[in-house]
Amino acid sequence: MSFEKSTVPSAELLSVAQDAAKAAGVVLLDYAKRGFHIERKNPINLVTDADHAAEQRAIDQIRRHYPDHRILAEERGADAHGSSPFRWIIDPLDGTTNFAHGFPVYAVSIGVEYLDELLIGVVYDPTRNEMFTAEAGGGAFLNGRSLAVSNTDTLDTALLVTGFAYDIRENANNNLDHFARFTLKAQGVRRTGSAALDLCYVAAGRLDGFWEVKLSPWDMAAGVVILREAGGRITDLHGNPHSINQPELVASNGRIHDDMLAVIREQPHT
Ligand code: IPD
Ligand code: CA
Ligand code: CA
Repeated sequence: MSFEKSTVPSAELLSVAQDAAKAAGVVLLDYAKRGFHIERKNPINLVTDADHAAEQRAIDQIRRHYPDHRILAEERGADAHGSSPFRWIIDPLDGTTNFAHGFPVYAVSIGVEYLDELLIGVVYDPTRNEMFTAEAGGGAFLNGRSLAVSNTDTLDTALLVTGFAYDIRENANNNLDHFARFTLKAQGVRRTGSAALDLCYVAAGRLDGFWEVKLSPWDMAAGVVILREAGGRITDLHGNPHSINQPELVASNGRIHDDMLAVIREQPHT
Protein backbone atom coordinates (compact mmCIF):
# COMPACT_ATOMS: atom_id res chain seq x y z
CA MET A 1 0.00 0.00 0.00
CA SER A 2 1.34 3.49 -0.75
CA PHE A 3 0.23 6.81 0.74
CA GLU A 4 0.29 10.47 -0.21
CA LYS A 5 2.51 12.09 2.39
CA SER A 6 -0.45 13.95 3.92
CA THR A 7 -2.33 10.68 4.46
CA VAL A 8 0.49 8.74 6.14
CA PRO A 9 -1.08 7.26 9.31
CA SER A 10 1.43 8.87 11.68
CA ALA A 11 -0.66 8.62 14.83
CA GLU A 12 -1.16 4.89 14.31
CA LEU A 13 2.53 4.35 13.52
CA LEU A 14 3.48 6.23 16.68
CA SER A 15 1.11 4.20 18.77
CA VAL A 16 2.39 0.88 17.36
CA ALA A 17 5.99 2.04 17.89
CA GLN A 18 5.26 2.92 21.51
CA ASP A 19 3.57 -0.42 22.16
CA ALA A 20 6.47 -2.30 20.56
CA ALA A 21 9.07 -0.33 22.57
CA LYS A 22 7.16 -0.90 25.80
CA ALA A 23 6.78 -4.62 25.13
CA ALA A 24 10.50 -4.94 24.36
CA GLY A 25 11.30 -2.94 27.52
CA VAL A 26 9.26 -5.36 29.61
CA VAL A 27 11.31 -8.22 28.12
CA LEU A 28 14.54 -6.41 29.11
CA LEU A 29 13.39 -5.87 32.70
CA ASP A 30 12.39 -9.49 32.91
CA TYR A 31 15.84 -10.68 31.79
CA ALA A 32 17.50 -8.15 34.15
CA LYS A 33 15.57 -9.71 37.02
CA ARG A 34 15.82 -13.40 36.09
CA GLY A 35 19.32 -13.47 34.56
CA PHE A 36 20.73 -13.54 31.04
CA HIS A 37 23.45 -15.09 28.95
CA ILE A 38 26.31 -12.95 27.60
CA GLU A 39 28.24 -13.51 24.36
CA ARG A 40 31.18 -11.47 23.10
CA LYS A 41 31.20 -10.02 19.56
CA ASN A 42 34.75 -8.86 20.46
CA PRO A 43 36.41 -8.49 23.91
CA ILE A 44 34.40 -5.34 24.75
CA ASN A 45 31.38 -5.70 22.44
CA LEU A 46 28.77 -7.80 24.22
CA VAL A 47 25.42 -9.16 23.19
CA THR A 48 22.95 -10.97 25.46
CA ASP A 49 19.95 -13.18 24.94
CA ALA A 50 17.93 -10.22 26.23
CA ASP A 51 18.99 -8.19 23.15
CA HIS A 52 17.68 -10.95 20.87
CA ALA A 53 14.47 -11.58 22.82
CA ALA A 54 13.58 -7.88 23.05
CA GLU A 55 14.23 -7.47 19.31
CA GLN A 56 12.00 -10.44 18.50
CA ARG A 57 9.26 -9.05 20.72
CA ALA A 58 9.35 -5.62 19.06
CA ILE A 59 9.36 -7.11 15.56
CA ASP A 60 6.44 -9.47 16.35
CA GLN A 61 4.42 -6.51 17.56
CA ILE A 62 5.22 -4.40 14.47
CA ARG A 63 4.63 -7.27 12.03
CA ARG A 64 1.17 -7.89 13.49
CA HIS A 65 0.14 -4.41 12.28
CA TYR A 66 2.41 -3.94 9.27
CA PRO A 67 3.42 -7.26 7.72
CA ASP A 68 4.85 -5.62 4.58
CA HIS A 69 6.94 -2.81 6.12
CA ARG A 70 10.72 -3.10 5.86
CA ILE A 71 12.67 -3.55 9.09
CA LEU A 72 16.32 -2.89 9.94
CA ALA A 73 17.10 -4.29 13.39
CA GLU A 74 20.56 -4.33 15.00
CA GLU A 75 20.82 -8.03 15.83
CA ARG A 76 18.87 -9.45 12.92
CA GLY A 77 20.01 -7.01 10.21
CA ALA A 78 17.91 -5.82 7.28
CA ASP A 79 15.01 -7.58 5.60
CA ALA A 80 16.22 -9.13 2.38
CA HIS A 81 13.09 -8.17 0.48
CA GLY A 82 10.27 -5.66 0.45
CA SER A 83 9.46 -2.48 -1.41
CA SER A 84 7.37 -0.73 1.23
CA PRO A 85 8.06 3.03 1.58
CA PHE A 86 8.10 2.47 5.35
CA ARG A 87 11.21 1.27 7.18
CA TRP A 88 11.42 0.54 10.90
CA ILE A 89 14.88 0.98 12.47
CA ILE A 90 15.27 -0.84 15.76
CA ASP A 91 17.87 -1.04 18.51
CA PRO A 92 16.27 -3.45 20.99
CA LEU A 93 18.81 -2.66 23.72
CA ASP A 94 20.84 0.52 23.42
CA GLY A 95 23.27 0.31 26.33
CA THR A 96 24.12 -3.39 26.30
CA THR A 97 27.32 -2.93 28.33
CA ASN A 98 25.35 -1.10 31.03
CA PHE A 99 22.64 -3.79 30.98
CA ALA A 100 25.20 -6.59 31.28
CA HIS A 101 26.72 -4.95 34.36
CA GLY A 102 23.39 -4.15 36.02
CA PHE A 103 23.98 -0.41 35.48
CA PRO A 104 20.42 0.80 34.90
CA VAL A 105 20.90 3.09 31.89
CA TYR A 106 19.59 1.52 28.71
CA ALA A 107 16.68 1.85 26.31
CA VAL A 108 14.72 0.45 23.39
CA SER A 109 14.96 2.68 20.31
CA ILE A 110 12.50 2.52 17.41
CA GLY A 111 12.46 4.93 14.49
CA VAL A 112 10.23 4.85 11.40
CA GLU A 113 11.17 6.28 8.02
CA TYR A 114 8.75 7.03 5.21
CA LEU A 115 10.35 7.38 1.75
CA ASP A 116 13.79 7.60 3.43
CA GLU A 117 12.77 10.47 5.70
CA LEU A 118 12.55 10.08 9.46
CA LEU A 119 8.93 10.31 10.55
CA ILE A 120 8.55 8.74 14.02
CA GLY A 121 10.91 8.30 16.97
CA VAL A 122 10.29 6.38 20.19
CA VAL A 123 12.88 5.71 22.90
CA TYR A 124 11.74 3.81 25.97
CA ASP A 125 13.80 3.58 29.17
CA PRO A 126 12.19 0.71 31.09
CA THR A 127 14.18 1.31 34.30
CA ARG A 128 12.63 4.78 34.77
CA ASN A 129 9.46 4.11 32.80
CA GLU A 130 10.33 7.08 30.57
CA MET A 131 8.82 7.07 27.07
CA PHE A 132 10.29 9.69 24.73
CA THR A 133 8.21 10.18 21.58
CA ALA A 134 8.09 12.39 18.51
CA GLU A 135 6.46 12.64 15.14
CA ALA A 136 8.00 14.89 12.46
CA GLY A 137 6.27 18.25 12.68
CA GLY A 138 4.34 17.31 15.83
CA GLY A 139 6.72 18.14 18.71
CA ALA A 140 8.58 15.91 21.16
CA PHE A 141 7.24 14.46 24.39
CA LEU A 142 8.33 12.61 27.53
CA ASN A 143 5.49 10.53 28.96
CA GLY A 144 3.10 12.88 27.14
CA ARG A 145 4.73 16.10 28.46
CA SER A 146 6.15 18.49 25.83
CA LEU A 147 9.96 18.68 25.59
CA ALA A 148 12.29 21.56 24.73
CA VAL A 149 16.07 21.87 24.62
CA SER A 150 18.01 23.90 27.20
CA ASN A 151 18.91 27.60 26.99
CA THR A 152 22.59 27.06 27.83
CA ASP A 153 24.59 29.26 25.49
CA THR A 154 28.26 28.76 26.39
CA LEU A 155 30.44 25.65 26.48
CA ASP A 156 31.72 26.83 29.84
CA THR A 157 28.27 26.25 31.34
CA ALA A 158 27.33 23.24 29.20
CA LEU A 159 26.96 19.60 30.24
CA LEU A 160 27.98 17.47 27.26
CA VAL A 161 27.87 13.76 26.55
CA THR A 162 29.70 11.44 24.20
CA GLY A 163 30.43 7.78 23.57
CA PHE A 164 33.06 5.48 22.13
CA ALA A 165 32.78 2.71 19.55
CA TYR A 166 33.73 -0.91 20.20
CA ASP A 167 36.85 -0.66 18.00
CA ILE A 168 38.35 1.98 20.32
CA ARG A 169 41.44 -0.19 20.97
CA GLU A 170 42.23 -0.81 17.31
CA ASN A 171 41.14 2.36 15.52
CA ALA A 172 42.93 5.72 15.77
CA ASN A 173 39.63 7.51 15.00
CA ASN A 174 38.46 6.68 18.52
CA ASN A 175 37.17 10.07 19.76
CA LEU A 176 39.69 10.31 22.62
CA ASP A 177 41.20 13.49 21.10
CA HIS A 178 37.84 15.29 20.98
CA PHE A 179 36.97 13.95 24.43
CA ALA A 180 40.14 15.44 25.94
CA ARG A 181 39.52 18.89 24.45
CA PHE A 182 35.81 19.02 25.33
CA THR A 183 36.59 17.92 28.88
CA LEU A 184 38.80 21.00 29.32
CA LYS A 185 36.20 23.38 27.78
CA ALA A 186 32.81 22.22 29.05
CA GLN A 187 31.34 22.35 32.54
CA GLY A 188 31.24 18.56 32.37
CA VAL A 189 31.35 15.66 29.93
CA ARG A 190 29.42 12.44 30.56
CA ARG A 191 29.49 9.00 28.92
CA THR A 192 26.15 7.34 29.64
CA GLY A 193 26.56 4.31 27.35
CA SER A 194 23.29 4.82 25.46
CA ALA A 195 23.36 7.09 22.41
CA ALA A 196 19.57 6.93 22.08
CA LEU A 197 19.16 8.29 25.62
CA ASP A 198 21.92 10.85 25.02
CA LEU A 199 19.86 12.33 22.17
CA CYS A 200 16.67 12.27 24.27
CA TYR A 201 18.43 13.92 27.22
CA VAL A 202 19.58 16.77 24.98
CA ALA A 203 15.96 17.01 23.77
CA ALA A 204 14.80 17.20 27.40
CA GLY A 205 17.36 19.87 28.38
CA ARG A 206 19.09 17.48 30.81
CA LEU A 207 22.20 17.72 28.63
CA ASP A 208 23.20 20.53 26.28
CA GLY A 209 25.21 18.76 23.59
CA PHE A 210 26.28 15.35 22.31
CA TRP A 211 28.81 14.21 19.77
CA GLU A 212 30.01 10.83 18.62
CA VAL A 213 32.19 9.69 15.68
CA LYS A 214 30.98 6.15 14.97
CA LEU A 215 27.31 5.36 15.43
CA SER A 216 24.94 3.07 13.53
CA PRO A 217 21.51 4.01 12.12
CA TRP A 218 19.68 2.16 14.93
CA ASP A 219 21.53 4.17 17.61
CA MET A 220 20.30 7.46 16.12
CA ALA A 221 17.08 7.08 14.11
CA ALA A 222 14.55 7.59 16.90
CA GLY A 223 16.59 10.06 18.95
CA VAL A 224 17.21 12.29 15.94
CA VAL A 225 13.45 12.81 15.39
CA ILE A 226 12.95 13.47 19.10
CA LEU A 227 15.78 16.01 19.33
CA ARG A 228 14.78 17.83 16.13
CA GLU A 229 11.21 18.12 17.39
CA ALA A 230 12.43 19.49 20.73
CA GLY A 231 14.18 22.32 18.88
CA GLY A 232 17.70 20.88 18.71
CA ARG A 233 20.23 21.02 15.89
CA ILE A 234 22.01 17.99 14.41
CA THR A 235 24.87 18.02 11.89
CA ASP A 236 27.90 15.99 10.98
CA LEU A 237 31.27 16.92 12.53
CA HIS A 238 31.77 19.65 9.90
CA GLY A 239 28.39 21.33 10.30
CA ASN A 240 26.89 19.68 7.20
CA PRO A 241 23.38 18.16 7.18
CA HIS A 242 23.16 14.97 9.19
CA SER A 243 22.11 11.55 7.92
CA ILE A 244 21.64 8.40 9.98
CA ASN A 245 23.49 6.58 7.20
CA GLN A 246 26.75 8.27 8.16
CA PRO A 247 28.45 7.41 11.46
CA GLU A 248 29.22 10.81 12.98
CA LEU A 249 27.02 13.39 14.61
CA VAL A 250 27.00 16.61 16.61
CA ALA A 251 23.68 17.20 18.35
CA SER A 252 22.89 20.15 20.57
CA ASN A 253 20.40 22.68 21.86
CA GLY A 254 21.44 24.81 18.84
CA ARG A 255 22.90 27.60 20.97
CA ILE A 256 26.25 25.90 21.61
CA HIS A 257 26.41 24.09 18.27
CA ASP A 258 28.92 26.35 16.49
CA ASP A 259 31.17 26.35 19.56
CA MET A 260 31.09 22.54 19.58
CA LEU A 261 31.99 22.43 15.87
CA ALA A 262 34.88 24.82 16.55
CA VAL A 263 36.30 22.49 19.23
CA ILE A 264 36.03 19.54 16.83
CA ARG A 265 37.77 21.57 14.11
CA GLU A 266 40.76 22.24 16.41
CA GLN A 267 42.02 18.76 15.64
CA PRO A 268 40.88 17.12 12.42
CA HIS A 269 39.65 13.59 13.03
CA THR A 270 41.37 10.82 11.07
C1 IPD B 1 26.19 1.66 21.91
C2 IPD B 1 25.70 2.80 22.76
C3 IPD B 1 26.85 3.69 23.19
C4 IPD B 1 27.63 4.20 22.01
C5 IPD B 1 28.10 3.05 21.14
C6 IPD B 1 26.90 2.21 20.70
P1 IPD B 1 24.81 -0.67 22.05
O1 IPD B 1 25.10 0.85 21.46
O2 IPD B 1 24.77 3.59 22.08
O3 IPD B 1 26.41 4.80 23.93
O4 IPD B 1 28.73 4.94 22.48
O5 IPD B 1 28.76 3.62 20.01
O6 IPD B 1 27.35 1.15 19.90
O7 IPD B 1 25.89 -1.55 21.56
O8 IPD B 1 24.74 -0.58 23.52
O9 IPD B 1 23.48 -0.97 21.40
CA1 CA C 1 23.10 0.90 20.09
CA1 CA D 1 22.02 -2.56 20.84
